[in-house]
Amino acid sequence: MKIVIDSGNVKEIRDLNEYFPIDGVTTNPSIIVKEQRPFLPLLKEIRNVIGEEKELFVQVISNKAENMVEEAHYVTNSISGEVVIKIPVTEEGIKAIKLLKAEGIRTLATTVYTPMSAFVAAKAGAEYVAPYVNRIDNLGNGTNVVSEITQIFSIHNLPCQVLAASFKNVKQLLNVALVGAHGITASPELIKAMLEHSSVEKDVCKFRDEWVQLYGKETISLMV
Ligand code: G3P
Repeated sequence: MKIVIDSGNVKEIRDLNEYFPIDGVTTNPSIIVKEQRPFLPLLKEIRNVIGEEKELFVQVISNKAENMVEEAHYVTNSISGEVVIKIPVTEEGIKAIKLLKAEGIRTLATTVYTPMSAFVAAKAGAEYVAPYVNRIDNLGNGTNVVSEITQIFSIHNLPCQVLAASFKNVKQLLNVALVGAHGITASPELIKAMLEHSSVEKDVCKFRDEWVQLYGKETISLMV
């Protein structure tokens, strides 16, 4: 299961990418706007931080399919490495996914709230779909939607990955992991929270204290 950072903040991305097994970075218009910086230099800086091979997801703004395709060209021509274009699952979006698939440009269908919209996007050629788990939880059950999408893709052999998005807590991440999501994209804060447990630091301190009591050093290297 992929772990993707849902952020446009270069510092957060750099820190997390250094410590965690990160597969890529997703952005969306809100995430980009939050940084209050010119768009392309920001994306290029993120690319420099994560390297050429990790996927960088960039969302289109236009409503019409032809304009979405034009934006996709602009982004893929401007940003090096593995770029995936995020397209909302509107009718125009589905048309754009088909057009981009025919050109070999990779897409993620975003703003997914229902299994059948994910199915249509996958049939159109999207490489990923992004169900909005927390936003769906506010209306119904996000985990069930992820589970139904993964089942549909598996039953019908659709080569499309579920990159679940929109999370507010680690339990939601656990739930989608258990129903077979292929990836999760979450805020840096939530990715770090996957390691949180009050016992860990306590256990580690006890191990270290016992060791230091006998050997006098907080290391096992350079010891005779
Ligand atoms: O990538 C989509 C995601 O950022 C939406 O998340 O937290 O705004 O519901 P949220």
